[in-house]
Amino acid sequence: MSFKSIFISVFLGTSLIVVALIFNAKRPITETSQPSADFVRATGKCAACHRRETAAIIHQFERSEHAKEGVTCLDCHRAVENQETQAHKGFTIAKHLTAKNCSECHATEYTQFLRSRHAAPAWAAVSGARDFTAEQIAFAEKYHKGAVNRPANQLAVTEGESAINVGCLGCHDIGKPNADGSIGSCTACHARHSTSIALAREPETCGQCHMGPDHSQIEIYHESKHGVLYNAQKADMNLKAPPKILTTADMSVPTCVTCHLSGLDGLNVTHDTTERLSYWLFAAVSDKRPTYQQGQDTMQETCLKCHARSQVEKFYQEAEGVVADTNEKIREATALMKSLREEGLLTETSFDEPIEFLYFDLWHYYGRTAKHGAFMGGADFVQWHGNYELLLKMTELKKIAGELRENAGNP
Ligand code: HEC
Ligand code: HEC
Ligand code: HEC
Ligand code: HEC
Ligand code: HEC
Ligand code: HEC
Ligand code: HEC
Ligand code: HEC
Repeated sequence: MSFKSIFISVFLGTSLIVVALIFNAKRPITETSQPSADFVRATGKCAACHRRETAAIIHQFERSEHAKEGVTCLDCHRAVENQETQAHKGFTIAKHLTAKNCSECHATEYTQFLRSRHAAPAWAAVSGARDFTAEQIAFAEKYHKGAVNRPANQLAVTEGESAINVGCLGCHDIGKPNADGSIGSCTACHARHSTSIALAREPETCGQCHMGPDHSQIEIYHESKHGVLYNAQKADMNLKAPPKILTTADMSVPTCVTCHLSGLDGLNVTHDTTERLSYWLFAAVSDKRPTYQQGQDTMQETCLKCHARSQVEKFYQEAEGVVADTNEKIREATALMKSLREEGLLTETSFDEPIEFLYFDLWHYYGRTAKHGAFMGGADFVQWHGNYELLLKMTELKKIAGELRENAGNP
């Protein structure tokens, strides 16, 4: 071999090694290094095989506190009481995992969740009481009277099964009754394998379901000062701070959970999203909840970790004013609809006449939006997506009512 060809091979060889090193340095650490002894113990044979079969799940799991704390795949995937099993590559695993598997180790969170409207009431809002046992109904009714013991939703029934299953229940299955007797899903907020609190603290996690004109919470949030500041300052925040020691130094700007769930600066953490509320804002006419005072006290305690009392009181006073005025407008529309029905100008069936959709949009979109906007800092939602639309729809409602009466010869 000539000197020249030796030089070329050495040069090419070295270049290849350098290029390989550069590429390798860009790959995630977990792929290049051997798994540590701890890690092998934590995940065992499931991970060894699934790293080839479904690698993303392993990467998600590796990010979790569970992986760090030595919780194994089988700790979650083994069947608990009343669960169907399946044989799987020499193991026995559960056919389906539910909140029950999580509750084995997180009983407190499950109990709080069970009391909330995210549990049975969410499912019953679509499907009514039929899928729950008598005990489950009795339990939920203790906390939310009338929220589970009710018929299936009329709009859902009218739209049909496929719309219900993929549409309504795509969000309302957060409170699904499971075959093992438990209720709901924890992974709606925590995901299955990263099971992270940082993820649960992201507004977009709630925004999966809390969006659109009937419950525009995510849109309102992003317009509010809180949302704008959060989006600007997120990178400096510590979204991973353990709930029990979360302070305003970790998150000086609130996300949805700060106001509704978190234990900021020593407050109680709760999985009961109802605890801090004082009105039924989702209702056509919003009455005070039986827990009105406690709801306002606990929510305001949270505001007061960051704000002066005078600011918070003014905010609540103005928001309650919007609730009262909106109630007045919806009552007027409701009374009009009632008299049309009494005059025999509307059928008894709901959702078969255009005016019923108009009335539904009036309270379900615009009435709600005005109230939610007022309580979460969205001026545009109180005004242009709220009160302006209320006025417009009310005008249209009156016009159609007039026409119906005229056609029937009783103006
Ligand atoms: C020898 C390889 C191997 C081992 C070991 C293994 N799995 Fe799997 N697993 C697979 C394959 C292959 C699939 C099917 C993937 C597909 O359907 O595309 C699968 C599917 C699954 C599914 C989805 C099942 C379904 O029907 O929806 C779960 C859950 C699962 N594995 C969990 C585990 C757990 C937990 C362990 C350890 C107790 C484990 N696996 C061990 C190879 C393995
Ligand atoms: C914190 C609990 C938990 C741990 C730990 C966990 N899983 Fe899962 N896994 C779940 C849940 C919940 C589901 C959804 C199952 C269902 O819907 O029945 C799931 C689903 C799966 C699936 C099917 C996913 C799909 O999209 O097809 C596979 C495969 C799987 N897990 C493998 C693993 C492996 C391997 C490990 C360990 C590295 C592991 N899991 C650890 C909770 C867990
Ligand atoms: C075998 C017991 C066990 C099971 C089953 C289990 N976990 Fe955990 N989980 C733990 C331990 C241990 C920790 C770490 C210590 C702690 O925070 O309590 C933890 C921590 C967590 C955290 C806090 C994570 C963070 O970022 O700080 C969340 C959220 C969580 N688990 C959710 C779930 C969910 C959801 C399920 C079911 C899909 C589940 N866990 C199943 C034992 C378990
Ligand atoms: C995009 C997710 C999503 C879809 C799809 C959805 N909902 Fe909802 N629904 C919600 C959220 C979030 C709330 C809570 C609103 C609030 O409190 O402001 C809610 C509230 C409700 C309520 C009022 C609360 C109660 O318990 O009475 C009813 C009734 C309801 N939904 C029924 C339905 C029906 C029926 C469908 C399908 C025709 C449906 N929803 C589709 C997310 C959804
Ligand atoms: C509506 C969203 C949501 C659902 C559903 C949910 N979580 Fe959480 N979870 C959170 C949030 C947000 C936090 C962090 C609270 C904070 O910021 O202080 C959290 C924290 C946790 C923690 C850590 C608690 C601690 O004090 O260290 C555990 C464990 C946990 N959740 C388990 C569960 C289990 C089990 C379920 C199902 C029964 C569940 N979660 C359902 C949003 C949710
Ligand atoms: C998978 C969909 C889904 C996700 C994700 C979700 N929610 Fe909900 N949420 C609902 C539904 C559906 C309802 C209405 C339940 C009912 O009243 O029937 C609801 C109701 C609520 C309520 C009103 C409870 C009451 O008593 O009226 C609050 C507050 C709430 N959610 C906050 C949150 C927060 C904060 C998050 C994020 C950490 C979140 N939700 C994530 C679906 C979801
Ligand atoms: C600054 C605190 C704060 C933030 C941030 C916040 N909320 Fe709220 N939220 C409130 C207050 C206050 C109310 C009205 C409470 C009452 O009824 O007294 C409310 C009401 C609600 C309701 C209405 C429940 C009903 O009665 O219909 C839902 C649902 C909700 N918030 C979800 C969310 C979601 C999702 C986010 C994030 C996208 C969010 N909130 C962000 C403070 C907040
Ligand atoms: C974690 C801290 C935190 C919590 C909790 C919190 N806020 Fe704020 N809020 C802020 C910060 C920071 C600002 C921006 C203040 C500034 O610019 O000096 C702000 C701004 C505001 C503003 C806008 C002020 C303006 O005109 O610029 C209002 C209104 C407000 N908050 C009301 C509330 C209410 C009501 C609650 C409880 C339901 C609440 N906040 C909860 C941190 C918080």
